[in-house]
Amino acid sequence: MKISAVVLAAGLGTRMKSNKPKVLHEILGKPMIMHIVDTLMLCKPEKLTVVVNPTSTEIKDTLKDYKIQFAVQREQKGTAHALKTALPTLKNFDGDVFVISGDTPLIEYETISCFYSLHKSSKSDISILSFIKEGEHSYGRIIRDAQGAVNAIIEANDIEDADRNVKEVNSGIYFIKTSALELLKYVKPNAIKGEYYLTDIVSIAVSKKLTVSAFAITTEAEAMGVNTPADLHLATQYLRDRIVDTLQEQGVFFMDKKRVMIGRDVQIAKDTIIYPDVMILGKTEIAQGCKIYPGCRIVSSKFAQDVIVLDHCVIEDAVIESNAKVGPFAHIRPGSHICRKAKIGNFVELKKTVMGEASKASHLSYLGDAVIGREVNIGAGTITCNYDGFNKYKTVIEDYVFIGSDTQLVAPVKVHAGAYVGAGSTITEDVPSDALAISRQPQRNIEGWAKARKKQQKSN
Ligand code: UD1
Ligand code: CA
Repeated sequence: MKISAVVLAAGLGTRMKSNKPKVLHEILGKPMIMHIVDTLMLCKPEKLTVVVNPTSTEIKDTLKDYKIQFAVQREQKGTAHALKTALPTLKNFDGDVFVISGDTPLIEYETISCFYSLHKSSKSDISILSFIKEGEHSYGRIIRDAQGAVNAIIEANDIEDADRNVKEVNSGIYFIKTSALELLKYVKPNAIKGEYYLTDIVSIAVSKKLTVSAFAITTEAEAMGVNTPADLHLATQYLRDRIVDTLQEQGVFFMDKKRVMIGRDVQIAKDTIIYPDVMILGKTEIAQGCKIYPGCRIVSSKFAQDVIVLDHCVIEDAVIESNAKVGPFAHIRPGSHICRKAKIGNFVELKKTVMGEASKASHLSYLGDAVIGREVNIGAGTITCNYDGFNKYKTVIEDYVFIGSDTQLVAPVKVHAGAYVGAGSTITEDVPSDALAISRQPQRNIEGWAKARKKQQKSN
């Protein structure tokens, strides 16, 4: 495709009833505008412009990692005016401009590609992507003449009874030749709303004998506009179903397809089993044969084969190698790396920690900024004291170390290979290889103390 693209995202989004800009509302963990921009990136546009309003610095921030241009629409005078605002950014481009509303996030690359082919082969000056919609709705209707040629798009507010039953509607997605963009100057404010409607460019083009086509090659599930919280919910369901169905075809097993949320950039290999109430978001990659039990949220993480995540874990920006087991109720925070066959048990929190091969922290521990070697045993209640109120420090636990229960490791500290730490110790100094470190008070038994105490209580 040799195209440029413009995303219209300067509207006020009042129907969303939210303080957040509409296009930043998320679908499966990703802002709507990013869904569109990521899809457009696959089309490799020569120029990509997002039209924003002056208050939406958040949109620019959200898109700061993309190579795109912004056009600022100072007043929200309608979709035609928004596109006009973008024209200076298309300077020196001559060809087909893909125009899309920022609230149409579910569109797929394959559809754009097919739409482009039809636009080219029909030699149209303007092509409209349309779909069929029954019942009450607020989409613009595609009005065709008796021969089927497109005459106009009529907005829902302006529809006359004769056209009310037209079922072909405008998705707000177009290809417009740069030469036809000239026509924007002829668009007049709408009589009811006073806005400059981009849809009016169609009847203007027809009156000037340009070729206008509409291609009903998509469905509402892909081309819906998201205007309200209810639309956002519906779009989430549509995308979820599409993603889950595709994964299912590839051999991923879902115990309950309707009770999972899998993001658009997630990859899951076959023979992985996903239980209900699981969210997998961001750029997560899950290899073959993993099992994700109920109630887990996994974000931007990478799992190798045969990883098991038991119920109710939160895992973010982490790497988990093959045959490792995590949970139930574990919190794996960013920067953690769990090596092969390691085990992270219940109520264990990891942060920026490497857990070595076949090492275990089976219960109730906080391991932060730690590097833990292979076949280490971390006893219940172990805490790395990594923070002194100002800075974070590292704990190093080398291979084959045994840390007794209820140990505090005051970082920076290193326990060398093969050492033992006695239960209940507070370790403030490095422990030499193969040594036993023990820092608790020696135990004292006072014979008969308890009996004497009880006797005294009774006599009081
Ligand atoms: C629009 C179309 C309608 C179509 C529907 C598909 C028009 C007049 N109507 O209606 O035919 O069926 O999309 O979803 O185009 N925007 C700006 N600046 C503005 C106004 C809007 O950038 O001044 C942006 C909005 O941020 C939004 C997009 O343009 O992303 C569409 O605007 P919106 O108000 O949502 O149009 P609809 O009423 O949905
Ligand atoms: Ca809309």
